[in-house]
Amino acid sequence: MSKVGEVGRVALKASHLDKWFGEGESKTFAVRDVSFEALAGEMLFIVGPSGSGKTTLLSMISGILKPNAGEVFVSEKDLWMLSSNELADFRLNKIGFVFQDFHLFPRLTTAENVAIPLILRRVDWSEAIDTARKYLDIVGLKNKADLPPMKLSGGEQQRVAIARAIAAQPDILIFDEPTASLDGDTGRKILEFVKTEVLNPNRCIIIVTHDSRIFEYADAIMKMEDGKVIGIERVGHEK
Ligand SMILES: Nc1ncnc2c1ncn2[C@@H]1O[C@H](COP(=O)(O)OP(=O)(O)OP(=O)(O)O)[C@@H](O)[C@H]1O
Ligand SMILES: [Mg+2]
Repeated sequence: MSKVGEVGRVALKASHLDKWFGEGESKTFAVRDVSFEALAGEMLFIVGPSGSGKTTLLSMISGILKPNAGEVFVSEKDLWMLSSNELADFRLNKIGFVFQDFHLFPRLTTAENVAIPLILRRVDWSEAIDTARKYLDIVGLKNKADLPPMKLSGGEQQRVAIARAIAAQPDILIFDEPTASLDGDTGRKILEFVKTEVLNPNRCIIIVTHDSRIFEYADAIMKMEDGKVIGIERVGHEK
């Protein structure tokens, strides 16, 4: 068994995951018998046509949606065997999720948005805001800390969502279509930033995307079709 902190250790393992919706005649599989490993220190891309089960898979590996069958292992624990308190703790402390449409709170400042997961972890308000400012600085938005998200561009809002996801220092960071609503240049800048500043040897990043312009940032690409994995290709850590 490899040590924590070692690049290439298995950070997350999905084993024979199934998710179906409906019953009887109308039962359809969104995800069928999906197994894969995500390694620490890598960016794993999940690609596939619309409706192939990518978001459903992300929801199951991030503790949001319970599979009908199969297991998800993180730190050698089976996620879906955890108690509801342990699962909530996992979602808060181990995993960061950056949604396609950012999910920022419009009535809060960007610093307050970034501080939310820290407040949920019962960090003192002023300390949480200080930490939020530090992470906004990391994503290059120090001078926007007191503005509402509406005053920021799409790329800047995406960076606020990233700052919020990394402020809790998760081991696993998940992006669903991070560049879908950004122009090509902004999308590439975000990926460049994620690869150089957000990825680290203890962290794995899982990205669902249709955007072939950002495939060059992948360490591994997993292809899905009709709910199944049809291939996974590792291209190494040399980039
Ligand atoms: N709550 C639900 N109830 C019924 N069917 C669902 C539900 N969620 C997803 N599905 C179905 O499961 C399949 C996979 O959906 P999913 O959202 O995972 O696809 P996706 O690969 O993320 O697609 P996209 O690229 O369009 O986001 C689709 O056929 C979808 O209609
Ligand atoms: Mg989706």
